[in-house]
Amino acid sequence: MGTGIRKVCIVGASGKLGRYMVGQALERGYEVVGVCRERSVPKLAEFADRITIVPGQTDDRAVIAEAVAGCDGVLTVLVPWGVRQYSSGTAQAVLDHAEPEARLIFSCGWHITRDGKDAYSWAFRTTLKVASWLGKALRAVEIDDQVEACRRIFASDKRWTVVRGSSLEEGESQGLPVWSRHVGDPVLASDKTRRVDFALFMVEALTDDTLVQEAPAIVGRLSASALAHAA
Ligand SMILES: NC(=O)c1ccc[n+]([C@@H]2O[C@H](COP(=O)([O-])OP(=O)(O)OC[C@H]3O[C@@H](n4cnc5c(N)ncnc54)[C@H](OP(=O)(O)O)[C@@H]3O)[C@@H](O)[C@H]2O)c1
Repeated sequence: MGTGIRKVCIVGASGKLGRYMVGQALERGYEVVGVCRERSVPKLAEFADRITIVPGQTDDRAVIAEAVAGCDGVLTVLVPWGVRQYSSGTAQAVLDHAEPEARLIFSCGWHITRDGKDAYSWAFRTTLKVASWLGKALRAVEIDDQVEACRRIFASDKRWTVVRGSSLEEGESQGLPVWSRHVGDPVLASDKTRRVDFALFMVEALTDDTLVQEAPAIVGRLSASALAHAA
């Protein structure tokens, strides 16, 4: 078991990333509390006898307060669904209710920038602009609110890490992804990480104090750019 971590809460436990994290947290011997929407509880059936499930919306402050109580770490899948400040509501609830010294790990994508020094390709910026506009017009996703969620996390003095995922793919684990502070750094050029390894990075971050108040952008350790960098 990792230093100081005994019990963790996984917010958004029923999604693909969430379920990988549940499995990996259990493998490490952590006691796990999972939060997911009521309708998604059956997606956690394989873990049902080994974890505590708190059903509810992840931006419901009472749900989060109950779930994070006594947890040494909170792993939060930040998602911008709908046009109702879902991401920022979720992040704020976790920041406000987690134990003061808890490790708080949040997921997001490369589009989040902490210091404005990330260098994005024209294609990336255009796709993001279109997706943001379309998502809002259809009232399906609110990418700006994920940006607001991260702004609040970055401004917090808590023991947070914001893990910025590249494009994701399924497949067997390749091991712990490599990371860099800025998108545009050559090591990240391949822009591909296995989803299971995104989860691994989040769970490992719980016990890696060098990542406190960092926003690592990650890429698969066997991706071409990571291998070229290692060589
Ligand atoms: N997908 C990518 O290519 C990609 C790339 C980079 C970073 N990321 C980041 O990776 C993380 C996980 O994203 P993912 O795309 O891989 O998906 P995921 O792991 O399947 O997670 C999706 C989450 O959103 C919830 N959800 C779905 N529809 C919802 C709704 N209408 N209202 C409220 N919650 C809803 C799901 O809960 P239910 O189980 O209840 O449906 C689940 O917790 C996110 O932080 C994302 O920003 C993703």
